[in-house]
Amino acid sequence: MLTPNLTVNAEGHLCFGGADTVALAKQHGTPLYVMDENMIRENCRGYESVIAQEYGGRGLICYASKALSCMELYRIVDSEGLGADVISGGELYTALKAGMPAEKIVMHGNSKSDSELHMAVTRGVGRIVCDHLPELERLDRIAGAAGKTVNILLRIKPGIDAHTHDFVKTGCIDSKFGFALETGEAMAAVKAASLYPNLNLVGLHCHIGSQILETEPFAEAARVMVKFLAQIRSELGVTLPELNLGGGPGIRYTEADDPKPFGEIIRAILGAVKESCASAEFPEPFILFEPGRSIVGGAGLTLYTVMAKKTIPDIRTYVLVDGGMCDNPRYALYHSRYEALIANKAAAPRSASVTIGGKCCESGDLIGEDMPLQEAVPGDTLAVLATGAYNYSMASNYNRNPRAEIVMVRDGAARTVVKRESYLDIIANDI
Ligand code: LLP
Repeated sequence: MLTPNLTVNAEGHLCFGGADTVALAKQHGTPLYVMDENMIRENCRGYESVIAQEYGGRGLICYASKALSCMELYRIVDSEGLGADVISGGELYTALKAGMPAEKIVMHGNSKSDSELHMAVTRGVGRIVCDHLPELERLDRIAGAAGKTVNILLRIKPGIDAHTHDFVKTGCIDSKFGFALETGEAMAAVKAASLYPNLNLVGLHCHIGSQILETEPFAEAARVMVKFLAQIRSELGVTLPELNLGGGPGIRYTEADDPKPFGEIIRAILGAVKESCASAEFPEPFILFEPGRSIVGGAGLTLYTVMAKKTIPDIRTYVLVDGGMCDNPRYALYHSRYEALIANKAAAPRSASVTIGGKCCESGDLIGEDMPLQEAVPGDTLAVLATGAYNYSMASNYNRNPRAEIVMVRDGAARTVVKRESYLDIIANDI
C-alpha cells in the first residue's frame, strides 16, 4: 500500500487511519475527504525532530497552509509546536480564528493588498515576506500609520532549476515571485529595505518549487542563500539572522514514486547550511521551513461513489464518479497521477485499466487515465489516495457543486472538521 496507514479489514474494505472507508462513505456521504490525524501529527514531529537533532532546535517549521487550510489543521499543527505560512488574508484570518499565535505566522504573497498587509501588521504577524520594491514602500507606510515596526524577510529567487512541473517551479529567474540574485536585484532590495524606518529586515526567504523528489536542489539553494548572506555582510556590514528555505519535499502519489523522505531532505539542507556557514565564517542563522504537501498529502484520501461505467470499444473504459475537478483539479491542471482502489473490494486485484471521469461539464474533468482498478460497478465506493494536499484547498464550486466535507480520523474514530456545503451556502452571496 502507498502509505502504512492503509489496511484492508476482514470484510475486504479499505481502512485508513484505522477507520473503515466504506462505512465513512455511507455515514458522511460522498465525495468525502478523509484525513488521518495521527499521520499529520507524526509528520509534524518528524520535521521537529530533525531540526532538534541536526540544528539544536534553532528553527521554526511553519506549515504551508495553502496545502490544506481549515481551522482544525491550524489547531493540530499549533499543538505540535509548528507555526503557519499563510498566503492571503483568508488563510491569515482562518489561522488567527483557530488560535494560531500571530508571532508564529509567516505572511506570504506576491500581490498582497493594502488590507491584507494592514491585517498582518495590526494582528502582529511574526514575519512578512516581501516580494517586490513597491510592496516595501506600502508596507512601511502601513506599519508607520499603525505605529508598528514589522519583521520582514525578502523573497529571493536563488536561480535553482528544480525538476518539477513548470507551474509549481518557483526558484528560477523566470518566476513571478521575488527578487533575482543573478541580476543584482536582490542586493538592491536588501539595500532598499534597510532604509525604511518601520521595516526590520531580519532575513531572506527562498522556495524553489514543490513536489521535489531529490535532495540536491534543496542543498544547492541553501548554499546559494548562505553565500548571499555572507555577501550582504561583506558589502553592507549587516549580518541577517534568519533564513527561510521554503517548502517543497515531494510525496508518493503512485507505487512507482520514490521520493527522498523529508527527514533526509531537511538533514541534507541543514548539513549544507552548516558547511556553508563554516566556510564563510558566517553565524548559523535561525532556520525556517514551510512544508505543506509532505505534512498533509499522504494523510488524506478522497471517497467517491461510482455512478456508472462506460466502455468505448477499443478506446477506453470510463468509471464515472460523483465528484471530479471541483474537488480535485490536479489532473486537469498538471496531469498529476494518483492511485485509486474500489474501497469495498480492496482485497481484489486491480485487473482493470480505466479512466476515472468526474461529474463536471467538461471533457478534461478526469481524476486520471490508465489507472489500475478493481472491476467497478455503480454503487461502489472509489478511494483516490494521497489527496490531502492541494485538493480541498484548490476545490471550486464549478457547476455549482457544493464543496465536500472533510472528516478527520484518529485511531479509527471520525469527526467532521469541515462541513459539506449546502445549496444554501452556494447561493449565500447571490443577490
Ligand atoms: N512556501 C512557499 C513560499 C510556497 O510557495 C509553497 C508552495 C510552499 C511553501 C509549500 O510547498 P510544499 O511543501 O507544499 O511543496 N498547487 C500545486 C502546488 C503549488 C505549491 C505552491 N507553493 C499542486 O497541487 O501541486
